Amino acid sequence: MPQDDKNRIISAKESADEVDFEKSLRPKKLADYIGQNKVKDNLMIFMAAAKKRNEPIEHVLLHGCPGLGKTTLAHIIANEMGSNIKITSGPAIEKTGDLAAILTNLANGDILFIDEIHRLNKIIEEVLYPAMEDFALDIVIGKGPSARTLRLDLPKFTLIGATTRVSLISAPLRDRFGVNFRLDFYNDEDIEKIIKRNAKILDIEIDDQASGQIAKRARKTPRVANRLLKRVRDFAQVKGNGKINLELANDALTKLDIDQLGLDEIDRKILQLIIEKFSGGPVGLSTLAAAIGEEMETIEDIYEPFLMQLGFLSRTPRGRTVTKLGYEHLGIKPAIDPQNSLI
Ligand SMILES: Nc1ncnc2c1ncn2[C@@H]1O[C@H](COP(=O)(O)OP(=O)(O)OP(=O)(O)O)[C@@H](O)[C@H]1O
Ligand SMILES: [Mg+2]
Repeated sequence: MPQDDKNRIISAKESADEVDFEKSLRPKKLADYIGQNKVKDNLMIFMAAAKKRNEPIEHVLLHGCPGLGKTTLAHIIANEMGSNIKITSGPAIEKTGDLAAILTNLANGDILFIDEIHRLNKIIEEVLYPAMEDFALDIVIGKGPSARTLRLDLPKFTLIGATTRVSLISAPLRDRFGVNFRLDFYNDEDIEKIIKRNAKILDIEIDDQASGQIAKRARKTPRVANRLLKRVRDFAQVKGNGKINLELANDALTKLDIDQLGLDEIDRKILQLIIEKFSGGPVGLSTLAAAIGEEMETIEDIYEPFLMQLGFLSRTPRGRTVTKLGYEHLGIKPAIDPQNSLI
C-alpha cells in the first residue's frame, strides 16, 4: 500500500497540522535566516539597492527542494522591504479572472507570492507576462471580430515565485524574473544552529551532543529538523525528564526508524528494490514508482534529491542506478562493481 508521504516523519513536505507550528518557528529577519549564505549576501545587496533607488525590488524566483525555506524567505523579503505580502499558489488560480482580481487589488510596492508557480496554467501565465514586464493588464472585451483589448495599468509590485520544480517553468516566465535564487541542502552545522534556535523558542532543553545527532539525521532540511525536534521532545516528555540528551535522541530516532544518515524505511526500500529487483539499475522512474507504490512526482521531489545528495543514487540517461556508496550503506555487496559497470 502506498504510504501517505505527508505522514512520514522525514517527509520534507508540509502537513496541514504543521502550518501553525512552522509559522511559530519561521525567522522574520534575514539575519535570523540560517545558512544559504550566497543567497543571503546577494539578497542583501539587491534589497539595499532597491531601497536606495526607492523602488520595489525586481521579481524573484526561489527554487529548491521542499522544506528548504522558500516560503520563509519570501516573508523575510517582504518584512525587510516593509512591504505587504499577498499569498497565493499556482493551483489556486484557476481562471484568468482570478489573477486579474489579485493583480488589480495590489498596491505600489506590494509583494505577490505565488507558491508552486510551476503549476500555473499556460493561459494564466500569459496574463502574467505583461504584468511582470510593463505592470499592465490586458483585458479582452467582447468576443469574435468586435473583440478589443483594453490595457489597464497595474501598481508597481514585486512577484516572488516559489517552486520545487524549476525545470517545469517555461522559459518566457523564467526570463521575466530579475533574480533567480536556488536554495541548496544545508550543511549539518547550519541545521544544528536551526535546531538550537528552535529549541530555545519552544523552551526545550537539549544538549550539544543531542542537537548534533538530530542535525545529522535531518536530511539537510530545516523542516525535517523541526519535525524531528518535536518528535524527540515528545519522547523526552513521556520517557525522560523533559531534557534531551544524546541517549534519548538516539533512542527516539531509532524508534522512529530513522537511520544514522536520516534515511527512513522508504529510502532504504528504494535502494533495496533497485538492487534486488533490477540488479542495481538502471531502472526507469515509472517502473520504480510502480514497484514502490509511490507517485513519480513524490519520488522525484522527496526521495531522489536526498539520495543523490548523499551519493547513493545516480541518474543516468537510462534510469536510476544505486552507487557503490548506496550498496555500502545497506551492507550489500554488489555482484559487479557498480562504479565500473557499463552504464
Ligand atoms: N534558513 C532557515 N533558518 C531557520 N529556519 C528555517 C530556514 N529555512 C527554513 N526554516 C524552517 O523550516 C520550515 C520550512 O521552511 P519553508 O516553509 O520556508 O520551506 P519551503 O521551501 O517553502 O517548502 P515547500 O516547498 O514545501 O513550500 C520553516 O517553518 C522554518 O522554521
Ligand atoms: Mg513553501
